[in-house]
Amino acid sequence: MRHYAVFGNPIAHSKSPLLHNAVFVRYEKELGFRGNYHPILLENPQDLKSRFLELGLFGANITTPFKEVAFHLSDKVEGLAQEVQAVNTWVLREGQVVGYNTDIEGFLAPLKGLHVSRALILGAGGSARAVVCALKSRGVAVSVCNRSAKKLAYFQAQNIPSFLSQDCPLDAYDLIINTTTAGLKDNNLPCEESLLKALFKQAKHAYDLIYHNTPFLSLARECHLKTFDGKAMLVAQAVLSFAQFVPHLNSPLVLATMQEVLH
Ligand SMILES: NC(=O)c1ccc[n+]([C@@H]2O[C@H](COP(=O)([O-])OP(=O)(O)OC[C@H]3O[C@@H](n4cnc5c(N)ncnc54)[C@H](OP(=O)(O)O)[C@@H]3O)[C@@H](O)[C@H]2O)c1
Repeated sequence: MRHYAVFGNPIAHSKSPLLHNAVFVRYEKELGFRGNYHPILLENPQDLKSRFLELGLFGANITTPFKEVAFHLSDKVEGLAQEVQAVNTWVLREGQVVGYNTDIEGFLAPLKGLHVSRALILGAGGSARAVVCALKSRGVAVSVCNRSAKKLAYFQAQNIPSFLSQDCPLDAYDLIINTTTAGLKDNNLPCEESLLKALFKQAKHAYDLIYHNTPFLSLARECHLKTFDGKAMLVAQAVLSFAQFVPHLNSPLVLATMQEVLH
């Protein structure tokens, strides 16, 4: 049996175990081993790597709020994860913990064919870094707003217009993205309702990384915006992570299985 996991806090909401375990069960013969993927609630960020190693995991996903610490604790970081300094996937290779970021490509999954020129990102955590990187790769002008100052420093250092929510300019953005955890376990909006309504008035699309309906998405629909929840991203980033965990299984099969269990 090979064990895999997702580390986060909170973690009970995570659908990653459902997706990965469905593939492990369906393709046990093709894989040549039994796999099991566990949700793990982590309290102390500094325990992340020791837990990963003690549990003898072959690979893991890392979710809120540990993506930046996962970057720093990786023995080696591959691809665009180096640029965003946030890691959502770990694989054990030759005794080394190797970090990847599959959120960057995963985020773009539901946006294929959509024309976006200006986007506003609410939140400044590990996922916001991936979203900025993904949108910049598509030539989108991005701005970032967060409720507090500390995490804005990373974006300011890259000359990305970055504001405290209370100072957010009421410009015309065609896509507004919620990368905060507001709405994940509560009924909060990511910023003041009046600010959000003013932004939505000038916008066309709203995207919440959270994969259930949220107050942010409900308000966007009230304001007649086209909305995207985080389900397509969830599946897309999971398929890319699975390809790092087990490179020899055909990705379209993994995608079809994960889409089937989610719907
Ligand atoms: N669909 C998917 O596949 C997918 C992939 C990645 C992430 N996600 C989701 O994206 C969300 C963010 O993940 P993350 O890893 O970036 O988390 P994170 O690193 O913990 O960052 C959370 C961000 O949310 C802000 N925040 C928290 N509570 C807030 C509130 N009540 N009002 C306003 N802002 C608030 C934080 O602000 P401060 O800096 O002030 O604390 C921070 O900027 C999570 O809900 C996660 O599940 C989904």
